[in-house]
Amino acid sequence: MPLVTMRQLLDEAAAGGYGVAAFNVNNLEQIQGIMEAAQETRSPVIVQASRGARSYAGDHFLYHMMLAAAETYPDIPVALHQDHGNSPETCISAIELGFTSVMMDGSLGEDAKTPLSFEDNVAVTKQVVDYAHERGVTVEGELGTLGGMEDGVGSGEICLTDPAQAEEFVERTGVDALAVAIGTSHGAYKFSREPDGEILAMEIIEDIHRRLPDTHIVMHGSSSVPADIVERLKAAGGEVDAGFGVPISAIQRGIEHGVRKVNIDTDGRLAITAFVREHYRDNPDDWDPRGAGKAARAGQKLICMQRMQELGMAGHAGDYEPMSLEEMAARYTSGVRSAA
Ligand code: G3H
Ligand code: 13P
Ligand code: ZN
Repeated sequence: MPLVTMRQLLDEAAAGGYGVAAFNVNNLEQIQGIMEAAQETRSPVIVQASRGARSYAGDHFLYHMMLAAAETYPDIPVALHQDHGNSPETCISAIELGFTSVMMDGSLGEDAKTPLSFEDNVAVTKQVVDYAHERGVTVEGELGTLGGMEDGVGSGEICLTDPAQAEEFVERTGVDALAVAIGTSHGAYKFSREPDGEILAMEIIEDIHRRLPDTHIVMHGSSSVPADIVERLKAAGGEVDAGFGVPISAIQRGIEHGVRKVNIDTDGRLAITAFVREHYRDNPDDWDPRGAGKAARAGQKLICMQRMQELGMAGHAGDYEPMSLEEMAARYTSGVRSAA
């Protein structure tokens, strides 16, 4: 099946009452691990690439590996999404390359650090929506800022999303999905204790869903930072400053209130590193890189298998036929919002 749009995946998820994980990728083994898990659990899936991933792998390598994934697993609906686009130019280049979905992260400026004003966020996001929807491509926007920084991405300051502003933002931009800030951060150190209602503002999601029932809510920074994986990584010689992550129960509560896309990068990274370290610890004489590659693939797959079950996406791969970009574009033109 061709790469499908994220809008269709999320509309179907809303109709089915489940969430869809969006896993970050940088290389072949991550893509293979995700796709093997999707095949085994029969899950539709979002594969996303950050700007860092695009420059690490190279645009054409990344895109063609994703085409290979779609060809190898023709029964699995898979969307290719630009994660944290920092400017309209980044999003447009992703669309030109063949991505079926983009995030215009206008919560921050082009430097991906300085918070942008509400008006400027609306302006850049609307520019991307106009360009993308004409081509049938999905757009995610962001309002509010996450904590933490990854490779220089992020202001480091958490600014929770204001639900009333979210309503205005969606009305003025026409985004398909909205990333909200509820207190999470990117990376392995999110919270110093198990997050409760004071740390994780789940009520913001509930309020936004009440106001915007047709807008898909996106939870960034949703890795759970599994303690067993962190332990394995450390036992195999790794040093990682890991705290508490987002509990699966919080993600599941979010899904009950309109969360449809759940971003997971760190958990895959941690599992890959743990498995590769264990591989070299247990096989010090292995100098064939395929050994480490298989370990990496298995680490990514393990996390994906778990999340696909936990988010309820497992079993939904065959629920629908993919819609073409042209069909999606026609829907946007005619004002039809849902593709389910
Ligand atoms: O947005 C954060 C993701 O975890 C991507 O991270 O920019 O290091 O690829 P990255
Ligand atoms: P984690 O660092 O929690 O995996 O978050 C990933 C993310 O939000 C990517 O956009
Ligand atoms: Zn993110």
